[in-house]
Amino acid sequence: MQPGEVSTFESYVSSVEQRAVSALSLARVGQSTHVPPGLLDGQAGAALRETIPLPARRKSGAFFSSSALRAAAFDACPDETEPSARTLDPAVGAGDLLIEAAKALPIDQDLAQTLQQWGDLLHGRDIEPAFVRLTKARLVLLAIARGAVAVGSGRPSSLGELFPGIQVGDGLDLLRSAPPVTHIVMNPPFTYRIAPPEMSWASGRTSHAAMFLAAAAEGALPGTRLTAILPDVIRAGSRYERLRSRIEGLLRVSSIESYGRFDRWTDIDVFVLRGVVSNELADAPAAQWWQQPNGERVGDRFDVRVGPVVPHRDAQTGPNRPYLHATTIPLGGEFDVAAADTRGFTSGLFEPPFVVVRRTSRPNDGSRGLGTVIVGSEGVLIENHLIVLKPQDGSLDTCRQLVRVLDTSNTRRWLDGRIRCRHLTVRALREMPWWDS
Ligand SMILES: C[S@@+](CC[C@H](N)C(=O)[O-])C[C@H]1O[C@@H](n2cnc3c(N)ncnc32)[C@H](O)[C@@H]1O
Repeated sequence: MQPGEVSTFESYVSSVEQRAVSALSLARVGQSTHVPPGLLDGQAGAALRETIPLPARRKSGAFFSSSALRAAAFDACPDETEPSARTLDPAVGAGDLLIEAAKALPIDQDLAQTLQQWGDLLHGRDIEPAFVRLTKARLVLLAIARGAVAVGSGRPSSLGELFPGIQVGDGLDLLRSAPPVTHIVMNPPFTYRIAPPEMSWASGRTSHAAMFLAAAAEGALPGTRLTAILPDVIRAGSRYERLRSRIEGLLRVSSIESYGRFDRWTDIDVFVLRGVVSNELADAPAAQWWQQPNGERVGDRFDVRVGPVVPHRDAQTGPNRPYLHATTIPLGGEFDVAAADTRGFTSGLFEPPFVVVRRTSRPNDGSRGLGTVIVGSEGVLIENHLIVLKPQDGSLDTCRQLVRVLDTSNTRRWLDGRIRCRHLTVRALREMPWWDS
């Protein structure tokens, strides 16, 4: 975010800090303060959306988690049975995940005592100083909302001195340095970075959240429990296959759950990963990144690949040939190549019969994964927005069977669970169960 943009959010941060400071002063003379519930749930995210434009929030990856998402993520969080749980959020934002963790921490009636204990147990980093200040102020208000008041001789410290483990800084660096914590909770930035050469599982433009996940699994002490809210591309995208196997070698993964859209303002699907960093994974069951079909798969009957023609890149040197592209193919049914557009031949003609599926589609879109049987007597060129499924037995009947298999609620449910990004992958289609039609 630009300095000017943060300053519009700054007045909200100052108002929350003032509330926390005055609540601390009142507590020192034995008086309690009413803390509006919204202040601890939702208001910080709303203030951010109102004051910082979406492009700036996207650029810095600042999206605070909603209470529904936190509830989905947090059944594995520190609870009263673990009063000494030390929790780190390496990309803390306004502190929503730490607030969730602190709700389960023991509360001493004495505010000074409580804040000191919580200060030992709660750790966080954010590169944005205003977010760090907001986190501290909200944690103070949480302790007061949970009933802590100043009693005895202990006087709560000033805001700046509280929570020494929550600091401005790079959370990735901290994760890599074996932080002495028992729990890591995170919803890291969904921005992109160029992967450095030493990051063996990545190349080029890579999800920053994936880097946080790798750093947590590589850097945390054995036994550390990890709960991570992550973009779905890490769970299902082919680019992150190497990262997934790396994670399985470092983390005993206990659950992977698709959550759906981040929130109603943020159109990106997320999942929640939970696991324990471990040195002994020889006997660990494989992580279930998606539901693995047991029986026959589409890939057992079809060769699956992406159409090879990139319209604006490929030269059209040869004679015109029928050309299939996503905008002109009907959804479902059959299409004869005699009715197709044409374009100059490059290479890679496909002989009918075969099935095509659009690559771009959304989860819960009724037409997701619908196939069209391509028939005709000529070889055809195919654009790269289509996936081609060529029957190994060369039979038109097998193609028709596939289109029936694709058009079932079983398939749609399976696809939505397998891949929630906007692009279907060749691998997902190969792995798709061949439901008995
Ligand atoms: C998606 S928000 C999540 C905030 C919070 N954990 C939550 O769930 O509401 C990601 C946060 O990461 C911060 N961030 C971006 N890069 C970072 C880095 N290298 N180290 C620490 N924090 C970073 C952003 O400022 C933002 O507050």
